[in-house]
Amino acid sequence: MTDTGTQSTSTSAPSFPSDRTCPYQPPAGYQDLAARGPLTHVTLYDGRVVWLVTGHTEARSLLTDPRVSSDRRNPAFPVFAPRAEDQASVVVPLLGVDDPEHARQRRMLIPRFTVKQANALRPRIQLVVDGLIDTMLAKGSSAELVSAYSLPVPSMVICSLLGVPYADHDYFEGCSRRLLSAPTSAEAVAARDDLRDYLHRLVARKEAEPGDGLLDELIAERLGDGQVDRDELVMMALLLLIAGHETTSNMISLGVYTLLEHPEQLAALRTDPGLMPTAVEELLRFLSIADGLVRVATEDIGIAGHTVRAGDGIMISTSLVNRDAAAYPGPDALDVGRSARHHVAFGYGVHQCLGQNLARAEMEIALGTLFTRIPDLHLAVAPGEVSVKPGDTLQGLHALPVAW
Ligand code: HEM
Repeated sequence: MTDTGTQSTSTSAPSFPSDRTCPYQPPAGYQDLAARGPLTHVTLYDGRVVWLVTGHTEARSLLTDPRVSSDRRNPAFPVFAPRAEDQASVVVPLLGVDDPEHARQRRMLIPRFTVKQANALRPRIQLVVDGLIDTMLAKGSSAELVSAYSLPVPSMVICSLLGVPYADHDYFEGCSRRLLSAPTSAEAVAARDDLRDYLHRLVARKEAEPGDGLLDELIAERLGDGQVDRDELVMMALLLLIAGHETTSNMISLGVYTLLEHPEQLAALRTDPGLMPTAVEELLRFLSIADGLVRVATEDIGIAGHTVRAGDGIMISTSLVNRDAAAYPGPDALDVGRSARHHVAFGYGVHQCLGQNLARAEMEIALGTLFTRIPDLHLAVAPGEVSVKPGDTLQGLHALPVAW
């Protein structure tokens, strides 16, 4: 393998991604990848060799480089898992397109995802959180936290924001789970189409009978005057609905598990609840649940002594970038008091997470209220018995049995 690009396959490039064994640590072997330098080569499941970025400076540089594309329609775009083999068959708005198409779509949504908007939603989030804790407490002294809490919190919030009926949550959560974990491309496409059909029907109902969610606003303001067509609107709704609940749900359950496993950090947080915003940033850095941002180079790029050639695939390991010792001293320690600023858990550059302000508000309220209202919350199983999601999807726990 030379620096003349990554088109050929190589036996020396380790496979990527791998599964975590400890829910909050990068998989075994990832540190060896980081030790190879800020950019190295890895082999994807289909044998293709791509660049793996592990350095903080290099990741931020590539994520803001206009020669680096997110466009899944590019035939050279890396396929990181079998379920993504048909990724070019449908345009994923925002995440899967470049500027200026991306900027046009983002402009439509940005006013609804500001810090101010997220703060305005805090009372509603608090109501959701309190209601779910009331139900858990009323049911007894144990619960499965993912289904009882970490999933319904963001799911209810994104439903109310978008104007999607929460009564349909089993259906759309099921589609989304199938889509994110499908073993084959055919199953992923079927799940995506089911959710797309559901949202088409919802948009049609809303056109006849408008409500007061973001989708209703987009239908009235943008669909009405032709700024967006129905398919694009539906795919935007699909992305927001999935991103709005799956990610934050994983962060809440993994955050609870991680704090329970670091009792001194939890104690520091209890002593000074004002630490919650920095604790959330630190958990985002430490857990890096979206581990493996995918890109393709559209021109040759010189970086860190290497040349990334046009057409080369690029994977950015957020879990390694967020543990680059040059950016975060003692990176493998969870420290809720540290400044974890500039982490890339929400990405970086034009595609940086649109929902980050909302996600922060949800995590602060969900974690803070849970540990305050159930002070003796503990794991109901041995830590090693908790089952972790596979490495090629959003990182999180399948279930989290707890008791109090
Ligand atoms: C803790 C929870 C979350 C995490 C860790 C997370 C992580 C990310 C990351 C890493 C990206 C960038 C992907 C890339 O560059 O390829 C991203 C983009 C995005 N996220 Fe989030 N996200 C979270 C919550 C949310 C929520 C609550 C919403 C919606 C309400 C949301 C909506 C989006 C959208 C629409 C994009 C695409 C933005 C664009 O391409 O311009 N996310 N997210």
